[in-house]
Amino acid sequence: MERARRRQRRQAGASISYTHVPDSALSSAWRVSALKDKPMTEDELIALARAAAARAYAPYSRFQVGCAVESIDGNSVTGANMENACYRLGLCAEQSALTAAQHKFGLDQVARIAVVGGTGDMVCTPCGGCRQAILEAAQLSGRDVEILCASGDGTRVERYAISALIPHGFGPANLSDGEPA
Ligand code: THU
Repeated sequence: MERARRRQRRQAGASISYTHVPDSALSSAWRVSALKDKPMTEDELIALARAAAARAYAPYSRFQVGCAVESIDGNSVTGANMENACYRLGLCAEQSALTAAQHKFGLDQVARIAVVGGTGDMVCTPCGGCRQAILEAAQLSGRDVEILCASGDGTRVERYAISALIPHGFGPANLSDGEPA
């Protein structure tokens, strides 16, 4: 585990319509620009994920998902799902945000994640593949990463630890030398 963490630290269709909601079109409570220079609350992390969902590229499913990843020291990055005409190449919001997290502060710094998806009152929990991706970050950071799962209509939030979403998971800690391949 420690070796894995050290290693991470070292590396430092035109005819398709989809919805792109600019920050200025969001109500003030959801505006990313209103969130700067304040300690991150749960609501703010969720708001970042919600704003990211508004910028998803999901013309096929029309199910827009946004994700915000917060680092141990309060940095944050966002991502959204990005679909493709070759359907199976679509990228989930969580994996998009975790890629940004690796580039901005490192997977080993991931502390908390918010996910918002859809438009109704059902909370959006990470799919199986995304749980595996979050587990990777959790084992590198040595934290039982918390995931705030919010509904698209803003009425519901559920909180889970990654250990509850993917119990008995296989991660970098299972590899014999403790390092990702
Ligand atoms: N999706 C995510 O982005 N994250 C999840 O955890 C669940 C599903 C996306 C994939 C696809 O673009 C759309 O939601 C419908 O499945």
